[in-house]
Amino acid sequence: MPNQVFLGPTDFTLSKQSVADVCPSNIALIKYWGKYAGQIPANPSISYTLSNCHTKTEINFDPAASFAVKVNLDGREEVKFGEKIEKYFRSIEVYLPWILQGAYEINTVNTFPHSSGIASSASGFGAIAKCLMQLDASFNGLADEEFIRKKASFLARIGSGSACRSLYEGLVVWGETTEVEGSSDLFAVQYPTEQVHDIFRDFNDWVLLIHEGQKAVSSTVGHGLMDSNPYAKRRFLEARENFVPLKKILKEGDLTEFIRLVEHEALTLHAMMMMSTPAFILMQSGTLEVINKIWQFRKETGLPLFFTLDAGANVHLLFPENENSNAIKDFIETELKPFAQNGGIVKDRMVF
Ligand code: DP6
Repeated sequence: MPNQVFLGPTDFTLSKQSVADVCPSNIALIKYWGKYAGQIPANPSISYTLSNCHTKTEINFDPAASFAVKVNLDGREEVKFGEKIEKYFRSIEVYLPWILQGAYEINTVNTFPHSSGIASSASGFGAIAKCLMQLDASFNGLADEEFIRKKASFLARIGSGSACRSLYEGLVVWGETTEVEGSSDLFAVQYPTEQVHDIFRDFNDWVLLIHEGQKAVSSTVGHGLMDSNPYAKRRFLEARENFVPLKKILKEGDLTEFIRLVEHEALTLHAMMMMSTPAFILMQSGTLEVINKIWQFRKETGLPLFFTLDAGANVHLLFPENENSNAIKDFIETELKPFAQNGGIVKDRMVF
C-alpha cells in the first residue's frame, strides 16, 4: 500500500536537467537491526549525522532517451551499482511518476574510504534522494522545503533504511516511538535539539579501521537473520525501551549513562549476529583488544572515551570535544591506532 502523502502528481513537465547534492553518513546509537516488508524497521533507532564523511552526487537526466541508469563511482563505471539504482528507481515510481521516463548518468564520490565500513549506502542513497527531489521540484514546481526534505528521507529509506536518518542534522530518529513527537516508520525526524544537553552537541567520532575490506555479512542478509533469531522479539522491545532512559540522559547530560547505553546497544547488535543461524562474528581480535583498552583507560582516568560498532569490525571511538579531549586524542593516537590494519583512522566531529 503506497503512502498517500508521498504519491507524486502525474502531471509534470520534463526537461533536460543536471542536479547535484551532498549527503553525510550517520552512526546509530540505538541500532536498527531487523525489518519488516516495505522497509519498515522492527524498532526505532537514533543516530548522529556525521559532518566530514559524506557523498557528493551529480545526476544528469535526459528525458529524450529511454530509461537507463549509469553510475560512475570516483569516475569509474560501476555496473553493479547501476543495476541496483535502476531497480531502486523502478521501486519508487509510484512516488515519482516521471522517474522511468529518461536516462540517468550518476556521478558519485565519497569523502571517506569505501572499505572503512562507514555507511556509504546511507550517504549514497541520501544524496540520490536529494537529487531526485531537486528534479521532482523542478518538474512539478514544488516549493515546500520541509516537505521536500521529508519526502527525500522517505525515498532514501526505500533505498536503504539507515539512509533516511542522513537527511537531518544532529541526532536523528527513525521509527515510531511514543518518546519522540512526530516520529515515523516511514521517514526520519530530527531529535529536538533544545532537549539535548550541550555536552552532546560537540562530539567526536573517530573511526578506527581495524579491518579494511568487504563486510562478512551484508545488511540485507543481517536484517534477514533477525526473522529467525529466537532473541529478536526481546531485542526489538529493548531497543524501544532504551528510548525512555535516553531521553532523560540527553536532557540531563548524563554522560555515564549515555556511555553505558550506547556500548550496550553496540554489543547487543553483535550478540544478535552471534546468536543467528548461521552465526556471524563480525569483530576481529583487534576490535576486542581496542574495547578492552578503552574500558581500562576509562577505569584508570575516568575520561569519557567509549565506542559503538556497526555491522563490522571497525570501532567508532566516541568522546565529547572539551578540555579533556586532548588526553583522549593522545591515547587514541598512541595506544589504539596501532590496532588499525593500515594505521587507518577517519576523524569526524558533530557540532550542532
Ligand atoms: C548496523 O540501513 O544498511 O548500521 O535497510 O537493508 O539497507 P538496509 O540496511 P542498513 O542497516 C544498517 C544497520 C546498522 C545499524 C543502523 O544504522 O541503525
